[in-house]
Amino acid sequence: MSAVSKPTSSTTAKSARLIVDGKEVELPVIVGTEDEKAINIASLRGSTGYITLDDGYMNTGSTTSSITYLDGEQGILRYRGYPIEEIAAHCDFVETSYLLIYGKLPNSQELEEFRESIRQHTMLHEDMKSFYNGFPRDAHPMAILSSVVGALSTFYQDSLDPRDPEQQKISIHRLMAKLPTIAAYSYKKSIGQPFNYPCNELSYCENFLQMMFAVPTESYEPDPVFVEALNLLLICHADHEQNCSTSTVRMVGSSNANLFASISAGICALWGPLHGGANEACINMLNEIVADGGNVKKYVQKAKDKSDGFRLMGFGHRVYKNFDPRATIIKAAADKLLKRLNLKEPLFEVAQELQDVALNDDYFKERKLYPNVDFYSGIIYRAMGLPTQMFTVLFAIGRLPGWIAHWVEMHQSSATKIGRPRQIYTGPTIREIVPMSERP
Ligand code: CMC
Repeated sequence: MSAVSKPTSSTTAKSARLIVDGKEVELPVIVGTEDEKAINIASLRGSTGYITLDDGYMNTGSTTSSITYLDGEQGILRYRGYPIEEIAAHCDFVETSYLLIYGKLPNSQELEEFRESIRQHTMLHEDMKSFYNGFPRDAHPMAILSSVVGALSTFYQDSLDPRDPEQQKISIHRLMAKLPTIAAYSYKKSIGQPFNYPCNELSYCENFLQMMFAVPTESYEPDPVFVEALNLLLICHADHEQNCSTSTVRMVGSSNANLFASISAGICALWGPLHGGANEACINMLNEIVADGGNVKKYVQKAKDKSDGFRLMGFGHRVYKNFDPRATIIKAAADKLLKRLNLKEPLFEVAQELQDVALNDDYFKERKLYPNVDFYSGIIYRAMGLPTQMFTVLFAIGRLPGWIAHWVEMHQSSATKIGRPRQIYTGPTIREIVPMSERP
């Protein structure tokens, strides 16, 4: 195949030309509001018989979207046009969720109504509690989270139609309200403590901490420093355009599966250690380094050795080739929290040394591998006393409004089609079945 893709200059580019098998086809160029350009290949197979192949979607846009803009080279992240730094400084997580889902900052009445609706739906149906008895005590909370979220569709059969705006709205509010409750119950189950009912006088983050850490025998007041750090973490995780879990939510949702089923699938995608599971994997790695005598250089060396499968968890990003702007915000919160708690654990010292060594090492510098959001979020969660297995669950609570916003956007777009990639088949060509007696 001889292929020449030749967009003209960025200001006038309206199409690209591709020559394949001697035939020239013209493909339209799409330009986004931040001047990102794409060649629209929708007509390619029909006009040439060819498809494109792009493992890991390194160059493939799956959709247009007006929710989040990020520039990995410059370290820019904006939700609906607002820089993440501004949002982190001025909004709380519920307000950020409204912004992502509804596309605008709420006025005070809209925000109060949104908060109130979420407050009204925080409780789980009492019958759902019995699910928790069916899971082994040591079940991973991400497995519980995805199962119970999927099971919401058995309890709320009145709101499963993704094309009905009223049903969409009620299931969105239910899910925003119930996910922290589902998450906290999974933790309480794992340590054998009674479940705490949500307390609707508390804020979203206070309520989650109360459900996680309060016990019936003692009074509990959420630490404002923890509440502030949690709020920041949830905001920083709230959306990140077409990442693995969000693409999963869109893919599942594109079949018109209901919201609970789509989000349940996103939770499973997030669980993997190359995605949201990296915060848990990062703390496990730091513990391993501490247990091995704190020899940071040895682990940096292992990460550089191509014959060793080891990677530094919490470093690198598919899109950011600069400091992750979320990591900058969360690092400042982590520094503040560690100073306030005056924690001197070896794990925090190893984390600091690892960050310093990697940032000054040529291997990491050349490949633009910076500490990512999961490096610092794990440190905060650890300092707050959250169990390691809950780290990715916290990521899921933060990412929920982003998943919802993409699911809604997909259903509102007339361009949406069921997600169905093609492939290049590389298996055997046609052959006959050999009778059992003649098989080697
Ligand atoms: N440690 C050591 N080497 C690394 C690392 C790492 N953490 N990450 C990438 N590299 C190397 C990799 O070996 C490759 O080297 P070479 O060019 O010599 O073959 C080069 O850097 C490019 O790596 P890649 O795997 O092609 O990059 P990718 O864009 O496919 O992967 C990543 C991105 C995040 C999966 C990867 O950096 C990684 O595995 N990081 C560790 C896991 C992690 O922290 N994940 C959380 C990501 S942030 C949260 C989220 O949004 O999900």
